[in-house]
Amino acid sequence: MNQSVADHYTQKDMLARLRRALEESYPVSKPLSVDDLAAADHLHARGVAATQSLATGLKPHSGDAVLDVGCGVGGPARWLADKFNCHVTGIDITPEYHLVSQNLNFLLRLKDKVQTICADAVALPFGDASFDIAYSQYVIMNVEDWTTFFNETSRILRPGSRYMISAVTRGAGPPPQYPLPWAPDSTSSHLLPSEILKSELEKSGLMITHTRDCTDENLSAYRRAVKANVARDGSSSLNPQLFMGTILPEAQENSAVGYQNGALNAIEILCHKR
Ligand SMILES: C[S@@+](CC[C@H](N)C(=O)[O-])C[C@H]1O[C@@H](n2cnc3c(N)ncnc32)[C@H](O)[C@@H]1O
Repeated sequence: MNQSVADHYTQKDMLARLRRALEESYPVSKPLSVDDLAAADHLHARGVAATQSLATGLKPHSGDAVLDVGCGVGGPARWLADKFNCHVTGIDITPEYHLVSQNLNFLLRLKDKVQTICADAVALPFGDASFDIAYSQYVIMNVEDWTTFFNETSRILRPGSRYMISAVTRGAGPPPQYPLPWAPDSTSSHLLPSEILKSELEKSGLMITHTRDCTDENLSAYRRAVKANVARDGSSSLNPQLFMGTILPEAQENSAVGYQNGALNAIEILCHKR
């Protein structure tokens, strides 16, 4: 297991803090929905809007077997399972995120549709051609061995099935400032230029059918997040900081600067398995 990745994402008392935030946001106890949690459990720029964009590309159908590679605390997996009635398996390398996912799958009454497993994306614990759809949202920046990551993803997909990746890529600008949301410093960050990302996908047997530059959208989202951080009064409101820790405000500011000065770009790529 890549311990430094898991250490970066592991936060203290995530479930207890989430419980307090839920009590604050929903003082009257009511059955929670994926939309209620969406402000906190989609761990990437643009939150649930980015997951919606992913769904537009992937077009999941009822009953599809979907794999979320690097599922975080499972927000996108639960949202897709709930909205499209598909069966989503999520894998993540961070054991504490896996524990949170399992609790939230149960709390949202989705444990029959969403299964989460603690595993490394470079050694997927599934047979060949076992999924109809796969995706990974903002994970590849943590992965040193891109070639194996894409070979593994390609291996578990059925021929003709769809894969979508959203990623931060290295732009032509100056080196980015750290921390960034996925890494405290440059030693644990593996930013790819988008041209290498595309060629790694193609080499693994994934044919690129559509790409979309999301740099400006992510920049706007991080500017909004920076403003919200300033306005927030330290309350335990529902937001991704519950799962990404006190480093997040500074990481969001650095992301905004990086998208602005060309250090960072963001891209969505849709592929079909050959
Ligand atoms: C920025 S978070 C995004 C989480 C989720 N995809 C989302 O969008 O809500 C990156 C996630 O990738 C996971 N991750 C990083 N490297 C991984 C690997 N080699 N295998 C599985 N998960 C990994 C981390 O534990 C973390 O949960």
